[in-house]
Amino acid sequence: MRNFQKIKEVQDYSHLDAPEQVEEKILTPVPKNESIMILRMLVRPKYGKFIIPESINYLGPLIKSLANYDLKRTGIKDSWCYVTIRHGQIKSITDDQFHFDGASFRTDIIPERNYIWVNRFPTEYKVGKLKIPDDFNPIRHNLFTFAEFQLKNNPILRCEPLKWYLLSPFCLHRRPILDKNIIRTFYRICFSDIEGRDVNNTPNPLLPTPFYGRNPVLTFRDNLKHYYSLDKGLKDDRIKI
Ligand SMILES: [Fe+2]
Repeated sequence: MRNFQKIKEVQDYSHLDAPEQVEEKILTPVPKNESIMILRMLVRPKYGKFIIPESINYLGPLIKSLANYDLKRTGIKDSWCYVTIRHGQIKSITDDQFHFDGASFRTDIIPERNYIWVNRFPTEYKVGKLKIPDDFNPIRHNLFTFAEFQLKNNPILRCEPLKWYLLSPFCLHRRPILDKNIIRTFYRICFSDIEGRDVNNTPNPLLPTPFYGRNPVLTFRDNLKHYYSLDKGLKDDRIKI
């Protein structure tokens, strides 16, 4: 079982995690609105109380149950808590590529915990071991394509719908590739060690909204170099560090 109190290191990716099923029953109401899209809305600052806006009040007990579960599972009491809800037609475009959640190495932190639930077409994932060369640098190289290339022959596994899972940052996963007309409900409750300063986050109307000029996808992720090329194998233009 993964130790969430240990500072994340790139060598932790040498052994990937499967999603870990939550061993408690978590009452999970579905949204009443026809569609709702909330991306990483802050509902609890690290040392604060839960502040949940009226529009998602019905998720209060669920969020608190998962916070209690997370404390029992990891022993970590104080974390930032963010809510993502995607309910309605599929809109996001990059979720169907294999990736890790919370894999940033900008700063030394303990691993974030992402609890996810879907009503249908559940999350896909791969497990396996990665060989991490000494010159692989997660600040400069794309960890997602690096992992996908090494595991390209490993089978795609699937979670079960209507169940809660804990995803560590060492879980390579994606949303299944789906038609845009598909209606689906996805929840993600995230507990993290640092504030998610992302311009794309949905603001919580009950909390002050600092201006985040930061768009991590544009400024960081899209600038990463591929250590492996997905079609050619090892790239010649690896960065020398
Ligand atoms: Fe994800």
